[in-house]
Amino acid sequence: MRTTQEYLDIINDALLAVSYPVEPAGLYDPVKYQLDMGGKRVRPLLALLACEMCGGSIADVLPAAVGIEIFHNFTLLHDDVMDKADIRRGRPTVHKAWNENVAILSGDAMQIISYQMIGKTPSGVLKPVFDLFSATALQICEGQQYDMDFEERDDVTEDEYIDMIRLKTAVLLGCALKTGAYVANAPAETADALYRFGENLGLAFQLQDDYLDVYGEPSKFGKKIGGDILNNKKTYMLISAMRLANPEQLAELNRLLNSADVAPDDKIAGVTALYSALGIDRLAMEKIDYYYRNALAEIENMSACEPLRLFASELMQRES
Ligand code: IPE
Ligand code: IPE
Ligand code: MG
Ligand code: MG
Ligand code: MG
Repeated sequence: MRTTQEYLDIINDALLAVSYPVEPAGLYDPVKYQLDMGGKRVRPLLALLACEMCGGSIADVLPAAVGIEIFHNFTLLHDDVMDKADIRRGRPTVHKAWNENVAILSGDAMQIISYQMIGKTPSGVLKPVFDLFSATALQICEGQQYDMDFEERDDVTEDEYIDMIRLKTAVLLGCALKTGAYVANAPAETADALYRFGENLGLAFQLQDDYLDVYGEPSKFGKKIGGDILNNKKTYMLISAMRLANPEQLAELNRLLNSADVAPDDKIAGVTALYSALGIDRLAMEKIDYYYRNALAEIENMSACEPLRLFASELMQRES
């Protein structure tokens, strides 16, 4: 059995081996910058682990795994424009290091390159892999649209939030795992169970991302702490705070969220203090654990699922 680091080396070598045209540098330099700046490589790791676990070979799944990671990085380029985020992985985001137009166009190029990589999948399994990837890509756009729509609403329900993060985040983890299963020609029930494992793990993963956005360690998280609060993102934490707040706390929350004259740092500090007073941190951790357990239940009867279980447990300990 390989270590996580060994899988990471395989993925990073494959990402480096993708060749890009040199010109125009304004298009391709940001692509290389984004892909060289690190990242946990969660999705390709899941694809490799699922494929091996189902008896397939890494060489066969690697192009699709790399395509999925390039696609993920494309979504981050556009997401950082939409979320006005200046820092990612501890470095300036592409739209800050260059400008917004560059982030849009280099992102578009990455999306096309990701499809080219998916196209290198062995022809016998290409059709289901391609169809799943395309359907997933569209779901992510849907999730991102809901995420933006919800910034403007204050009546978003927990169910709506869960469905939004399922679309913007969880389906890509499910897609990565099911791609691994497809490439290995796994039985349909196994492929479906791996997808549900990924979907639940993805829900836990986004809930955790939202938690770290408030309570993470800035130097480790690599993104601005409080970014979601500044954007009035309707996270599980904010939805729960609105539900649990007493009338004075609710008035204070509404003032912090909606008055133009609250300074950004005061808004982050004020909302965070309310979260902590309401026990939202503990509530969020319980919710993360709920979906993590749901994920594990999907694979508990699968043989050879130990590497996947181990990786999921490592992921739940993450600080970045
Ligand atoms: C960030 O994804 C976007 C979310 C879906 C939360 P990751 O946390 O996987 O980002 P990197 O690739 O490791 O930086
Ligand atoms: C991003 O969610 C999901 C996608 C990019 C599709 P976030 O906006 O929470 O991701 P971060 O926190 O910027 O990485
Ligand atoms: Mg974002
Ligand atoms: Mg976002
Ligand atoms: Mg986030």
